[in-house]
Amino acid sequence: MNKSPQSKLIIALDVETPRQARELFTVLGDFACMFKIGSQLFTAAGPEFVREIVEAGGRVFLDLKFHDIPNTVASAGIEAVRLGVSIFNVHALGGSEMMRRTAEAVSDTARREGLSRPQVIAVTVLTSADAATLHEVGVASIPEKQVSMLAHLAHQSGLDGVVASPHEVQLVRAAVNDKQFIIITPGVRPASATHDDQKRVMTPAEAVRSGADYLVIGRSIINAPDPARAAQSILEEMERAGSDQY
Ligand code: C5P
Repeated sequence: MNKSPQSKLIIALDVETPRQARELFTVLGDFACMFKIGSQLFTAAGPEFVREIVEAGGRVFLDLKFHDIPNTVASAGIEAVRLGVSIFNVHALGGSEMMRRTAEAVSDTARREGLSRPQVIAVTVLTSADAATLHEVGVASIPEKQVSMLAHLAHQSGLDGVVASPHEVQLVRAAVNDKQFIIITPGVRPASATHDDQKRVMTPAEAVRSGADYLVIGRSIINAPDPARAAQSILEEMERAGSDQY
């Protein structure tokens, strides 16, 4: 199936105020298939802003990376269904019971209340983390192994996919033999851009070629002097890279 580059691009609305986010949504609405609302904007603007975007026809990836006891995460998942988000995520480190109960609660709620079922995605290892970061929190593994293990666990627990660095797409595909399992990759930077705090980065072209289903891009677009132009040039790069895949 041919997929346009827009249908793979998720833009992260990592800004301080709903006003800034609204402006970006207005300017960038046609460039992406989804907008990511994470901890910063959610803490500032709350579920009202998520509802506003959904009511305006935007699809939302609610990136709050839930990590708590199974009952609490499953309950938060139920509220994410009611908010109308298309994707939300949990930390795979919360374990299989947490993930399984959340996936079940989401399916049950969507069915019972006649709502769309969001996809539930696991965060494996943050793309800002490297082996030293894992080591300092007592994980005696390297990111690659940790990502494979957690992706496998997320799949076994009924989740729909993972967030992983574009460098790890092949590892995830090898760990999870299921073409429907989606991979969302942050840590994407046009060749000319700075890496900010991301340690494991790839260009948009490389990320598309790696076989990621979605690319999440924040600062390279939203902090650009002309965000629409930045988004357009990223889409063109994705299109060129993927012309044999779309
Ligand atoms: O600005 P940048 O393009 O680095 O934004 C990447 C976005 O993806 C940020 O909102 C960040 O919170 C998010 N993210 C990430 N690594 C993960 C999961 C989410 O960078 N593993």
